[in-house]
Amino acid sequence: MIGGGTTAIEAKILNRHITCVDVNEEALKRTRDALKFDVDNKAKQRIIKCDARNMSFIKDGEIDFVLTHPPYADIIKYSDGKLEDDLSGIHNIDAFVDEMEKVIKEMFRVLKKGKYCAILMGDTRRNKMYQPLAFKVMGRCLSAGFVLKEDIIKRQFNCKATGFWVNRSKESNFLLIMHEHLFIFQKI
Ligand SMILES: C[S@@+](CC[C@H](N)C(=O)[O-])C[C@H]1O[C@@H](n2cnc3c(N)ncnc32)[C@H](O)[C@@H]1O
Repeated sequence: MIGGGTTAIEAKILNRHITCVDVNEEALKRTRDALKFDVDNKAKQRIIKCDARNMSFIKDGEIDFVLTHPPYADIIKYSDGKLEDDLSGIHNIDAFVDEMEKVIKEMFRVLKKGKYCAILMGDTRRNKMYQPLAFKVMGRCLSAGFVLKEDIIKRQFNCKATGFWVNRSKESNFLLIMHEHLFIFQKI
């Protein structure tokens, strides 16, 4: 779920080998383009079109650290509903969480014992109710065998949609969601 490649850029600068996956060709191209800069190290990048629910090209326990930033169900549609395996095409929260569970199991499988997995997740509102999407995903991580080391709150500033929602929240009396969770798990 490499998206625009931010994680790949940081990995390259930090001299870490990185394996990036995404189902969207556009995301993979952006990542390849973003990596066209020189650094004085030998870090290698593997950029592969792959559904994160099945990363069979990666061996069990091959990976030292997993970092992922999944879609938050269909809040942002990354492929406008055109790609069947894009999880941002799933509107139903519980159906989305079920598919995320498959990603979580794969992340657990590929990670070395003792190492860490970080997941950045946000919440949403539906039918005038707060939907704890991040906590639901976190619960599936615990069920998969991960232990939770940290829940780091990432505050959100200057979001594109903030202006529109500020007015709506005042009219309809609800609070804006201005944070995301960066869960840090360990495979023990
Ligand atoms: C929130 S974005 C990631 C943004 C990224 N952190 C960045 O800096 O650009 C989520 C990404 O997940 C990808 N994605 C959706 N479903 C996927 C799946 N089943 N397997 C792999 N990637 C998927 C989308 O194409 C999108 O690029």
